[in-house]
Amino acid sequence: MTHQKKVGVIGSGQVAKVLGNGLLALGHRVMLSSRDITKLSEWKEKSKENALVGSFKEAAEFGDIIILAVSGRAATEAIESAGPQYFNGKTVIDPTNPISENPPVHGVLSYFTGPDESLMEILQARYPEANFVKAFNSVGNAYMVNPSFKEGKPSMFICGNNDDAKAEVTEILDAFGWETLDMGKVIAARAIEPLCILWCIPGFLRSEWNHAFKLMKA
Ligand SMILES: NC(=O)c1ccc[n+]([C@@H]2O[C@H](COP(=O)([O-])OP(=O)(O)OC[C@H]3O[C@@H](n4cnc5c(N)ncnc54)[C@H](OP(=O)(O)O)[C@@H]3O)[C@@H](O)[C@H]2O)c1
Repeated sequence: MTHQKKVGVIGSGQVAKVLGNGLLALGHRVMLSSRDITKLSEWKEKSKENALVGSFKEAAEFGDIIILAVSGRAATEAIESAGPQYFNGKTVIDPTNPISENPPVHGVLSYFTGPDESLMEILQARYPEANFVKAFNSVGNAYMVNPSFKEGKPSMFICGNNDDAKAEVTEILDAFGWETLDMGKVIAARAIEPLCILWCIPGFLRSEWNHAFKLMKA
């Protein structure tokens, strides 16, 4: 195991649990969180001693690293209720996608952001002291940790303004079995967030959810 870290996860859904379990398996301490922590009793019971449960504020305060595992529409509200000051100077892993309330059309999700913006840019501008890193948004939660594909390691596209934060996230992605591809600054979230739309199309059209992206190189 690498140096044990404290990871505060804002969220109680599938992504929070899957990434939380993956990090626990690496030996890290993990606090999941919710506005209603009774949702997490079963998770805590099944997990080992390094698994903790708290409010959004407690998780944000606890984490050396924070994972923002909430609905994209609620991202700002969740950070506000957690306390933006706890995000300052920390690596914030951002798997969120700006999925709107509108239903998919012919399998194509609708985003509340336009083509020349992204949710992570909005968050980075609003919380400039936090070091957001886009990651894990372009694959289903079933494949986020230890993805196994016959073609080899799938690619995870990441971006963010802070190189140390990206190195920290890359270490986690390496440990989970990903090929990490750094796409540069936060603006690259304009390209990475829509990968979720593409990823979901075979699912909505043909119930195929068992794939991941890989960048081929000559
Ligand atoms: N599911 C996947 O396979 C997958 C894959 C890639 C990326 N993502 C992205 O990862 C994020 C998490 O996805 P998910 O499927 O695990 O869960 P989700 O259903 O998108 O979000 C659940 C979390 O959002 C919080 N939330 C909802 N409304 C809120 C509000 N008004 N204020 C504060 N918090 C609120 C909930 O808090 P409470 O616990 O308090 O209810 C809960 O913890 C999403 O942005 C999603 O697009 C998901």
